Amino acid sequence: MRALLLHKKDINSDMLTFNLEGMIPAQITWVESFHDVVDFLLEDVPIDVFICQDYEDTNKLLKYLLTVNVAIPYILVGPGEVVDPDSFPDIRLLERVDSIYSVEQIADVVVDAIENEVIVPEKDNTEFFRIATELLLKVVPLKADIYIRLSKIKFVKMFRKGREFKPDDAKRYLESKKVNYLYIKKDDMNEFIGHFQNMLENILNSDHLSSEDQALLSASVHESIAEMQKLVGFTPEVKKLAEEGVRLTLRSIGKSPKLKNFMSTLDQYQGSYFSAHAIATAHVSCALALALHWPSDTTFKKLTLAAYFHDIALDQPEFSEFDGVDHILNTKPDFGGETEKRYRSHPYLASEMLKDIAEVPPDVDVIIMQHHERPDGSGFPRGLRHSQISPLAAVFIVAHDYVRFLFEDRYLLGREGFKRRFDYSEDSLKGTFKKAVEAIEF
Ligand SMILES: [Fe+2]
Ligand SMILES: [Fe+2]
Repeated sequence: MRALLLHKKDINSDMLTFNLEGMIPAQITWVESFHDVVDFLLEDVPIDVFICQDYEDTNKLLKYLLTVNVAIPYILVGPGEVVDPDSFPDIRLLERVDSIYSVEQIADVVVDAIENEVIVPEKDNTEFFRIATELLLKVVPLKADIYIRLSKIKFVKMFRKGREFKPDDAKRYLESKKVNYLYIKKDDMNEFIGHFQNMLENILNSDHLSSEDQALLSASVHESIAEMQKLVGFTPEVKKLAEEGVRLTLRSIGKSPKLKNFMSTLDQYQGSYFSAHAIATAHVSCALALALHWPSDTTFKKLTLAAYFHDIALDQPEFSEFDGVDHILNTKPDFGGETEKRYRSHPYLASEMLKDIAEVPPDVDVIIMQHHERPDGSGFPRGLRHSQISPLAAVFIVAHDYVRFLFEDRYLLGREGFKRRFDYSEDSLKGTFKKAVEAIEF
């Protein structure tokens, strides 16, 4: 725990540093000017709280923190004649203390900050639950402590439970600060789930959202459900949310999905590839099924369910960006052992998880089991060849590749480039694989 004291050099600065050090379990570093603070920040020195004198350099510091999106909380020491905390609503003022002589009061606030505001989780981050700010915007007001993440292991409380987190707050974070995710404690998850459920039901029962907005929301919803599933498993509440999430995705796809409409939507999405590719694969595979003249509701439902859950069992969502084990090994040479084993079995684990979800039509588990098979037999887990892969899975595999392609470089390569990128040779491009690749409009 480190506190930085920003104060002009005088007898008070020495006294304050000296006294505080004796009273709180933190390292106090005194700095004289705003520029010194910037040096610390540029060197990535972890700072938990600022104690700032009421003078011009504090104004400069707060402005700087806003521009670099660093939300370290501060305590203001002085009458507040120079610094106006209301001008910096996004930076948390822990307390304003009138005078430098209130050392004890300052110490109390710092100790309180250590205990209540800045949280360093014990081992990992499993006590925190991440929510896309975009989604939070739709479920507020929420009565929960809301945190912002400062570093890999550090979280700062930005809103207290007693105060409602309102739509305006969420907007400010999303639009002006570009904070894409906020966090709540796992204990507050039920509060969130209740609001989440209401929001989904309202949206499903009305038609005030365009299909593009429904698709974007679907991706944030998917991301939250995947995180909840990791934290608490498929509880009845999470299952219900997942079923509604799938309904929302199906609704955004509609009866006659077109690839072109969907691409501009994709450009607006800010969240992870993991969820974007799940929702995008649902759209693209339904559009391909339509192009192959399989326009039934059941087919759309099967493909959407498969897309929604195919990677749900991945230990790390980032693995969804890779084509397979060799591809992961190119960027992560230490990939192997238990991690690799679990990766290889994620199609199987996901199809098992799906057994817990109500009303899953047959074939969905086959699509999920086969989503990493390749027509030339080089895929996993079974190394099936094109003739052994189910037609729906073939459509899904091509759609999944095409989504990857859209994210990589959609304009330069065209159909031939696509075939090269995903090793579709003339030998293996047969049957449904061939029809699906030909159905894509490049
Ligand atoms: Fe996968
Ligand atoms: Fe995937």
